[in-house]
Amino acid sequence: MLRNYPLKTLNTWNVGGSCSLYSAPLSALEARDAVASSINGGEKLYILGGGSNILVGDGELSAVVLHTNRLDDIKISNPASGNGVLIETGAGYPVKKLLALAIENSWGGLEFLTGIPGTVGGALWGNAGARGEGFAPLVESVETVDTGGNIRMWNANGLDWKYRECPFSADKGVVLITRCFLRLSAAPKSAIIERIGYFASLKKNQPLGRKTAGCVFKNPDGDSAGRLLDAAGCKGLRVGGAIVSPNHANFIENNGGATSGDIFSLCEKCRERVFLYCGVRLEYEIHFFGTFKTD
Ligand code: EPU
Repeated sequence: MLRNYPLKTLNTWNVGGSCSLYSAPLSALEARDAVASSINGGEKLYILGGGSNILVGDGELSAVVLHTNRLDDIKISNPASGNGVLIETGAGYPVKKLLALAIENSWGGLEFLTGIPGTVGGALWGNAGARGEGFAPLVESVETVDTGGNIRMWNANGLDWKYRECPFSADKGVVLITRCFLRLSAAPKSAIIERIGYFASLKKNQPLGRKTAGCVFKNPDGDSAGRLLDAAGCKGLRVGGAIVSPNHANFIENNGGATSGDIFSLCEKCRERVFLYCGVRLEYEIHFFGTFKTD
């Protein structure tokens, strides 16, 4: 474990301070040991993947950060059934590389990942997706580490995937995903490219290439958080170096020099505006490292 480790360059908002202890395990066994030692030491524990959906607090977090970036092995096999391929990937494998691999080999099913940053583990944990498509139909099994120090393989049958929630984010004592098996089918490259174009077109109004953490809030049932934030007049609102994106109101950009505190104040200001506008309390999609006062 490393002490007093800076987190600013490890998240896409490029904000936040350091953590008191940092570990980047190379295997599920090492991850399990790091989890056990932080639990035994009574330390707060955060799991860091690609850092593309988190807000890290300013100052020093008295916490262990366990980074999955070195759990990045990948194995491809052809199942005996001859039906497509089975991909075994570590949680730290980058989503963009996985999608590129699928395109190159004409494996269909992952096109929904177009424009999504981060790691496979993070994308699974947040059940990343677009227009109702996500990992659920592709997952064969998922390996996790839990608070009791167990490494467990979960078969896909019976795993319940909800909007922006994986089957473990509720309460199964699971601390992190360490790897997963995905089954992909062969598909014509032209069809894959066409679907990539479709998913890319859904993002044409998003501020890609800016310092953001994707959508800040979950969509409320039957509506879009971005639409409500826009209608409530949030676009262009600023706190310090943080600004609500003029492109899409559910994105907050770090325009340079924003602190984590700026971003959080702006988020809360937006939530308040939406509440006053239509009575909806938006729920955060991002995850927090550190203490932030949300209700
Ligand atoms: N809209 C506005 N103003 C805005 C933003 C959106 O009026 O500032 C309107 C749009 O015109 C559209 C509706 O709201 O009529 C929906 O907007 P959009 O198509 O951009 O989709 P979204 O609901 O805002 C969701 C996901 C995105 C995903 C896109 C495309 C959530 C919270 N957001 O956005 O996911 O990329 O669909 O599929 O589920 C993310 O989760 O980080 C994320 C970016």
